[in-house]
Amino acid sequence: MKITVVGAGAVGATCADNIIRRELAEELVLVDIKEGFAEGKALDMTQTASLLGFNTRVTGVTNDYSKTAGSSVAVITSGIPRKPGMTREELIGTNARIVEEVSKNILKYSPDVIIVVISNPMDTMTYLTLKATGLPKNRVIGMGGILDSARFKCYLQQALNCSQHDLQATVIGGHGDTTMIPLTRLASLNGTPVSNLLSAEQLKQISADTMVGGATLTKLLGTSAWYAPGAAGAALVESIVRNQKKVFPCCVYLDGEYNQKDICMGVPVVIGSNGWEKILDFKLNTEEQEAFNKSAEAVRNMNSVLDTLVQA
Ligand code: 2OP
Repeated sequence: MKITVVGAGAVGATCADNIIRRELAEELVLVDIKEGFAEGKALDMTQTASLLGFNTRVTGVTNDYSKTAGSSVAVITSGIPRKPGMTREELIGTNARIVEEVSKNILKYSPDVIIVVISNPMDTMTYLTLKATGLPKNRVIGMGGILDSARFKCYLQQALNCSQHDLQATVIGGHGDTTMIPLTRLASLNGTPVSNLLSAEQLKQISADTMVGGATLTKLLGTSAWYAPGAAGAALVESIVRNQKKVFPCCVYLDGEYNQKDICMGVPVVIGSNGWEKILDFKLNTEEQEAFNKSAEAVRNMNSVLDTLVQA
């Protein structure tokens, strides 16, 4: 089994590091456009093998996609990250061209690949990858909801002073500061609704903190985060390669589900060896469905920018 990670920056390298530590493949190929960068990161990671006890071979290449041939899974992290004050959406012009080229290069050498998209604006980049490659819809998965849900759990844990392992909490919708929807009504501490344990005011604050979770980190770090995004990408890869059938909120192509069509957005899905295998139809209440529709409108507006870029 071979796994490719494109983009050896902080998110890509952290994702790759999580993948090799868990030995999710015999070989991991790290690709970057910057001469020698992926080779350097791969060598550095390889030198942790005896210390950490893994056997996965790590290969770094500068833009040579022939080395990625036969990959079962490819993770795309390429593109520029956010700077403080920027939204994910502002990255579209630069990142769309990069992601389109990268996804076509991956497909050329790995026709059976499952692609995980992390590049931002993630919902639009997932949609673009699906259209650019023509892959079956279940083989293109955007990583956003898992990360947003992990942030939701982090803020819930701080308020509840509990173990994050005991929390079930899901964020659906778009992966944007104003488009994501933390489902506070359905969040629970081992089955007890968190609404029984926290005030409406506290839940409102947790929800708001979750939505700007990425922006908060960008402000602190001067660039976008990498530990949680990298770990979230690796968790998704693990459920694919080990066929774990885990339920994660991921950005997938909707064809009528959640009342939306021809759009990629975050909904709970089962992740296994076929990619996303099933969409779970959570019964949203009116308020949640309205929020989802509004989120879809924003994602759709962003997707429409792709047409102008293609023409440009
Ligand atoms: C984040 O939210 C990188 O979009 C990613 O941190």
